[in-house]
Amino acid sequence: MKKRFNFWTKTSILIVYLVIATGGIVRMTGSGMGCPDWPKCFGYYIPPTNIAELTWVSEKIFKKGQMIIYNDELKMSKKDFISGSDFNLKNWQDYTKHDYSVFNPLHTWVEFINRLIGVVCGISVLILGFYSIQFYKNKPVITLLSLLTIIAVGFQAWLGKIVVDSNLSPYSITIHMLMALLVISILIFIHFQNGNYKKNTVKNIALKNIVLLSLIFTIIQIVIGTQVREFIDEQIIMIGETKKNLWLLVLPSIFLTHRSFSLLILTVNFFVIYLSRKIDLNSKIIFWIIGIIAIEIILGVAMYYLHFPFSSQPLHLLLATILFGLQFFFYVSIRNINKINK
Ligand code: HEM
Repeated sequence: MKKRFNFWTKTSILIVYLVIATGGIVRMTGSGMGCPDWPKCFGYYIPPTNIAELTWVSEKIFKKGQMIIYNDELKMSKKDFISGSDFNLKNWQDYTKHDYSVFNPLHTWVEFINRLIGVVCGISVLILGFYSIQFYKNKPVITLLSLLTIIAVGFQAWLGKIVVDSNLSPYSITIHMLMALLVISILIFIHFQNGNYKKNTVKNIALKNIVLLSLIFTIIQIVIGTQVREFIDEQIIMIGETKKNLWLLVLPSIFLTHRSFSLLILTVNFFVIYLSRKIDLNSKIIFWIIGIIAIEIILGVAMYYLHFPFSSQPLHLLLATILFGLQFFFYVSIRNINKINK
């Protein structure tokens, strides 16, 4: 049972990162509107692959909720029926949630796969919650944290729908991101508590504090990053998806802060290396952390100077969350070590 719990903890961590990666790809490819409705897609559980499936034809069975594109407008069938020889408007209603009537199979399937991975993520944390019940007597915190993960993932799904439906709250992307970090930290914490990790004998408070500081800096940087992203989203609406060279023509102060803050992050993490070496703590994680920060900076510079090259946006986002995960894992390992040595 414990083995299964550990398996589902690792699987959930992996799937959460997969959700973040595919979410980034949805945005990069502009596939957000690939499915006009939710949870179905054009009224189908498995979305169409061909425009023919969204075209009215005679003698065809249409189910309630299924859509067609008719005269460049989305129409949704009011009931189950078989079409006659002529198009009958009475069987259809206008779909007004979006004024979007283009079928792009790539957008539809990217969005659909993203949704599927979201569902798989939900199932994975539900299974985790189930296996966590075994710890209720001896380690109730594990059970409670697993349940908290289910609530947090549920909240994420709800927030995702609100963001798509309303486009209202300017801070929704930031909240969404902070919740993702919360889910990652709970899962990593559970994983560490139940895994067989090497117990070092480090008694360095300065290292512990500086690692905590680096973690807090990363969270701040991620929050600032989401604000930069909201700015870019506004630019995309105003200037257009294709004119990437104009998105950062006027540099907002939030971008300048984001850019400069990364140097502070780099410095603090070099200090972490310095302190670890001083006390002979050989952890490869620190080098991974520095490597990811370096790639983040390179990607940031590329987005600015090379006008958002292919994949730079989703990679920048994914690596930021991986950076957070590694730093959190490193912090938890040091925090626990100190406890053990007390
Ligand atoms: C430690 C270093 C860095 C971290 C952890 C980081 C993190 C982030 C995060 C989390 C986002 C939001 C992504 C999203 O919501 O899709 C973001 C956006 C952004 N960052 Fe960074 N960043 C770093 C360094 C930099 C640097 C040095 C630059 C520029 C020189 C930069 C430029 C940008 C830009 C242009 C965006 C908007 C991207 C988009 O629209 O998808 N970043 N950053």
